[in-house]
Amino acid sequence: MRRIALLLAVLGLLTACDDTPKHPPERATLATAMPADPALAQVYDTSCKLCHANPASGAPLTADKAAWNPRIAQGTDTLLDHSINGYNGMPPMGLCMQCSEAQFVALISFMAGVERQQ
Ligand code: HEC
Repeated sequence: MRRIALLLAVLGLLTACDDTPKHPPERATLATAMPADPALAQVYDTSCKLCHANPASGAPLTADKAAWNPRIAQGTDTLLDHSINGYNGMPPMGLCMQCSEAQFVALISFMAGVERQQ
């Protein structure tokens, strides 16, 4: 009985320590997060999501504000330029050859966790 109490205390400590501010998004959120707009959701699902919801890809993950904030700070023009022309592991057009500039901006806002104002 005492062992269980000790174990619970240790577990409690572990969870308390885990409460870091730079919390990466949960895997479940990564797998299910989708833009509200159906057309945008389809583009996201068939292109951006392949890397931006895959921690192994090195891409800033969807809803990971800590990863996106310094990128957002570069400004929309730079982000758009890197989306269209590519940037290191980021392929040109993010593999969405038919995407418009407006769609890229909306996709970036979505991934960075900023809800788009219609
Ligand atoms: C094949 C994998 C892959 C796909 C598909 C992909 N990306 Fe990326 N993306 C990356 C990687 C890797 C990076 C990080 C590049 C770096 O910082 O070195 C990145 C970075 C970015 C950045 C940040 C660029 C910067 O200046 O910091 C933006 C914006 C972006 N992606 C948008 C998109 C959009 C929009 C889509 C879908 C249309 C998309 N990506 C699809 C891999 C991908």
